[in-house]
Amino acid sequence: MKLKTLLLHAICSLCLFTGLSAQEANKDITVLITGANRGLGYEFAKQFSEKGYTVIGTARTPEEATELKATGAEILKLDVTSEEDIAALAESLKGRKLDILINNAGYFGPTLSVGKKNAKINNITRKEMLDCFTINTMGPIFLSQALLPNLKLSTNPKIINISTRSSQLSTRPGKAWGYSVSKTGLNMVTMNLHGELSKQGFIVIALAPGHNQTDMGNGDLMPEESIGKMIPLIENLTKEKSGRFWYYDGKELPW
Ligand SMILES: NC(=O)c1ccc[n+]([C@@H]2O[C@H](COP(=O)([O-])OP(=O)(O)OC[C@H]3O[C@@H](n4cnc5c(N)ncnc54)[C@H](OP(=O)(O)O)[C@@H]3O)[C@@H](O)[C@H]2O)c1
Repeated sequence: MKLKTLLLHAICSLCLFTGLSAQEANKDITVLITGANRGLGYEFAKQFSEKGYTVIGTARTPEEATELKATGAEILKLDVTSEEDIAALAESLKGRKLDILINNAGYFGPTLSVGKKNAKINNITRKEMLDCFTINTMGPIFLSQALLPNLKLSTNPKIINISTRSSQLSTRPGKAWGYSVSKTGLNMVTMNLHGELSKQGFIVIALAPGHNQTDMGNGDLMPEESIGKMIPLIENLTKEKSGRFWYYDGKELPW
């Protein structure tokens, strides 16, 4: 065999070897993603699974989460507004290490449906505000609380709260009342968790995925691209990046 061919073989074997060992190492890292049956949550589950991670995806109706099942993820039932579901999930994971919790499940409000306008001050309802707050703000609080014992078993625990640029106080007055206010609340949840847990080695961030094409969003960005950029961002988080707000492309966002 010519020297050039031998060299090529050696390089290919090295790539294969390092690729496989990265997959092997990822198997030891468990990531739990809420609302993983569709949209960005599904794409997170798919891409984390493809990278060899141990993935737990939650869904409100696991029996209908066929695409999620096909990724190889373990599926657990969770409505983030249900105390019973949260308690049952925590019970089923008792003693098991969790490394990454992605609080992804979210609700825009009833006003997104085609032909309807976002609510304004004169027609926003108490129900819309409460529903958004219960899902988007309180969901991540009480799920993080319930899974703290699991995250504490990790040497590098991370809590990723999926926020949005609509939450930003500094640059973008939110157009959708329930959604924007509840996600601004989620940003404070992020800061509170960071304040209490960073000394214990936790990394806690808010992460905005960009305007994607999903049931919720009608943006130009495809979930494959957004998640493809957010996973390396999550993988490479350092303690200095905790307690901050990041955009999917790696830029920092003002609160
Ligand atoms: N798409 C965008 O452009 C965009 C932009 C900025 C931020 N985000 C954020 O990214 C996250 C994912 O958004 P997406 O676009 O993927 O939305 P999506 O397609 O509407 O999917 C929402 C997911 O959240 C789940 N969910 C809703 N209410 C829940 C509850 N009470 N308990 C548990 N799960 C619940 C849904 O489950 P069901 O199938 O059971 O309803 C679904 O899996 C959200 O937090 C959203 O705010 C999205």
